[in-house]
Amino acid sequence: MSVIAILGAQWGDESKGKLAHLLSKEADFCARFNGGTNAGHTVVAGGQEFKFHLLPSGSLWGGGKAVLGNGMVIDPFALVQELELLRKRGCDPKIHISEAAHLLLPYHRLSERLSGAEEEIGTTGRGIGPAYRDKAVRTGLRVGDLLFPAHFRQKLEQNLSRERKAWGESGELGRLDPRKLAGEILKLMEPLRERIVDTAQLLNRALDEGKRVIFEGAQGTLLDIDFGTYPFVTSSSTTIGGIGIGAGVSPKRLERITGVVKSYATRVGAGPFPTEEEGPVSDRLRRRGREFGTTTGRPRRCGWLDLAALRYAHMINGFTELALMKLDVLSGFPQLRVATTYRRAGEVLADFPPNVEALKECKPVYETLPGWEEEIGECRHFNELPSAAKAYIDFIEGQLGVPVSIISVGPGVEATIVRAPTLAENLRL
Ligand code: GDP
Ligand code: IMO
Ligand code: MG
Repeated sequence: MSVIAILGAQWGDESKGKLAHLLSKEADFCARFNGGTNAGHTVVAGGQEFKFHLLPSGSLWGGGKAVLGNGMVIDPFALVQELELLRKRGCDPKIHISEAAHLLLPYHRLSERLSGAEEEIGTTGRGIGPAYRDKAVRTGLRVGDLLFPAHFRQKLEQNLSRERKAWGESGELGRLDPRKLAGEILKLMEPLRERIVDTAQLLNRALDEGKRVIFEGAQGTLLDIDFGTYPFVTSSSTTIGGIGIGAGVSPKRLERITGVVKSYATRVGAGPFPTEEEGPVSDRLRRRGREFGTTTGRPRRCGWLDLAALRYAHMINGFTELALMKLDVLSGFPQLRVATTYRRAGEVLADFPPNVEALKECKPVYETLPGWEEEIGECRHFNELPSAAKAYIDFIEGQLGVPVSIISVGPGVEATIVRAPTLAENLRL
């Protein structure tokens, strides 16, 4: 089973990076299909911490595994910087960049700032919304445009003047020189010219040849532009369909759809979060889980696991398995609360309402489960876990009807429990 989707099941930061890195070990390709530098995926390997924003987390294995799919928005400055940082640390991945991926340029960031979205939605401020806006209104520049310099220069000039018409000539937007900017980007990307390809062809051919491919989702289901808590979402398809849109690979080719679930819940940025806690529970989760944004450093909002939201994520994505991450963070809570459903206007709801106005009126209905005292970071087999931790996992499986095949008990790649025997063999764990 070697064509695997790794999808965030909550509001992002579920530890997709660790899992994508682990599962990419034996894979031929690790492909990102959505988002841009709003993502921050952490891998802790060999005692070192790596943070990926544009490159897939499988890049660390080197070789030609890394694919940046057409559904991404790529900031060329950030891409080159990320590659350089990695090279300095002894890893030089050979990347494949989709010619159809969109370019995220400095005026997108400025446009986002001027629009007020950073405050209203609590975006990462990386220009993601405006870059996808240009894609949707069909004015965007794509990576493939870099191969036609005269056309690239002309389009960039047009786009910048359009931004200036919208936001005025003053400030940083007015100071951007389109000719200089185009020249800088063309020069910067020159060494990567050969790496610009049709990644949909590349991936489909690889699948035809029986090669192994990991699709690494960014953000999470509840941040999906369609299925998330709109408008408090990102601007791309973070869910299963995003692989079709953003990599050109039919979801029917996927063999495993792994929902990545943090053992509790976090959210960064604005928007409803029914199981959010304030006070000691949240403080403890944030401290033990080191819940500060990988991209922006913002403290993440923390709360209890929400099975109503996860049931919805399962409905959208059709998970074949779950990876339950950061279980070690829960040690030391005398009791754990888990939302099983919501109550709205006195009624128990059958389904999660993604509409934010409705969601604001929902109160979670909690079950309380026993906690465990023991630290579990050294556990490597399911049977080594305290019985209350096993019961917590059983409860989640029972409620969602999806097996938990991977359990993560620490940031390092070694701190992983793999329950499916075939998977353990594949990973040689
Ligand atoms: P992603 O965006 O989904 O890849 O997740 P992030 O990298 O933004 O956030 C996950 C954070 O938790 C990172 O700092 C990881 O190093 C860390 N982490 C991953 N798995 C575990 C785990 O099982 N236990 C603990 N304590 N930390 C973990
Ligand atoms: P990874 O891949 C958590 C959130 C932002 C904001 C909203 C829109 O590391 O899980 P954007 O900059 O995308 O326009 O912001 O989405 N957000 C994330 N939250 N993890 C992420 O990525 C996120 N990427 C965006 O905080 O609420
Ligand atoms: Mg992250």
